[in-house]
Amino acid sequence: MAGYVPGEQLNDPDIIKLNTNENPYPPSPRVFEAIHAALTSNSLRKYPQPLGDTFRRAAGRVLNVSPDSILIGNGSDDILTILTRAFVPEDGLMASATPSYILYRSLAEIQGARFEAHRFTDSWALAESWPRGADLTFLPNPNSPSGTVVDPETIVRLAQTLAPTPLVLDEAYSDFTTWSGLELLASTPNLIITRTLSKSYSLAGIRFGFAIAAPELVRELVKVKDSYNCDVLSLAAATAAIEDQDYFREVRAKIIATRTRMTQELAAQGFDVTPSHSNFVWCRRSDRSVKPIYEELKRRKILVRYMSYPTGPLGAPEGAYDGLRVSVGTDSEIDNLLRELKAIL
Ligand SMILES: Cc1ncc(COP(=O)(O)O)c(C=O)c1O
Repeated sequence: MAGYVPGEQLNDPDIIKLNTNENPYPPSPRVFEAIHAALTSNSLRKYPQPLGDTFRRAAGRVLNVSPDSILIGNGSDDILTILTRAFVPEDGLMASATPSYILYRSLAEIQGARFEAHRFTDSWALAESWPRGADLTFLPNPNSPSGTVVDPETIVRLAQTLAPTPLVLDEAYSDFTTWSGLELLASTPNLIITRTLSKSYSLAGIRFGFAIAAPELVRELVKVKDSYNCDVLSLAAATAAIEDQDYFREVRAKIIATRTRMTQELAAQGFDVTPSHSNFVWCRRSDRSVKPIYEELKRRKILVRYMSYPTGPLGAPEGAYDGLRVSVGTDSEIDNLLRELKAIL
């Protein structure tokens, strides 16, 4: 197998890093206090809470769900792995949409399963007929790299088509849009939602994600995870972060404002920019590959993510489909990006 290739993490402090959708702002000050308290107490000597009960209670309060419906993970990628191990037998079938998050295919390959990717339409909607028969289906909403969302009615219809096998709504970026599948959970028993603290809570370095699903499902998934998959420090950080909703809202508002501005300015520079519901923007040139632009930006110490897929959404010309996925940075980082792009173009 080829293996998943994560975004570059260069050890250069001068680089403007807009390639892996990290949050450009620091986490809540309460996170540092919580980590400090965990470090200076007696807790490092002991194993952490296996189910993360303190986090589950805090997240349950914030999201208005039962703590028993929450499964903790070492990043949401850990949750995606747990789900694959739990639901997909060897030689089973995993499905997703394309172009989308490329990790899903790697998870299927590790599991010895087959993988089917159904193309999005030209407006990033789901194709009319979605085949049944997958043991597990992943749909990121908002999608990466497009930043687009599929509406709630379509999600419910898809979940009903797939039932009883699960539909996983990967909501890594849902804090940057206006709706979440959480509101569908009670009426859609085969829906599983995954979240991460890497993006909207600025904790990519801590590695913490979670799933929300029916409590009877969570009880089964617990059997598949490592007993102590989240450590004392990440649990303390995640709990403090999710409890500080004022700080979270403030950071989110800044990111959405910058996203609006960069969308307009990139379009003015001649990019085809897909309106984003996320903390990144997908931009392409219909007339040419954007790889040289990525390379020139990198030479100028600005790192964006160059993505190339074997096929694009339906309606795109056959063959390779590429674009730049640019994370929303601080205003000054984006000013730098726009200035360098102007010089390059
Ligand atoms: C769609 C999607 N899902 C999940 C993840 C993984 O996030 P985490 O840092 O929680 O593992 C990412 C990260 O880039 C992502 O883009």
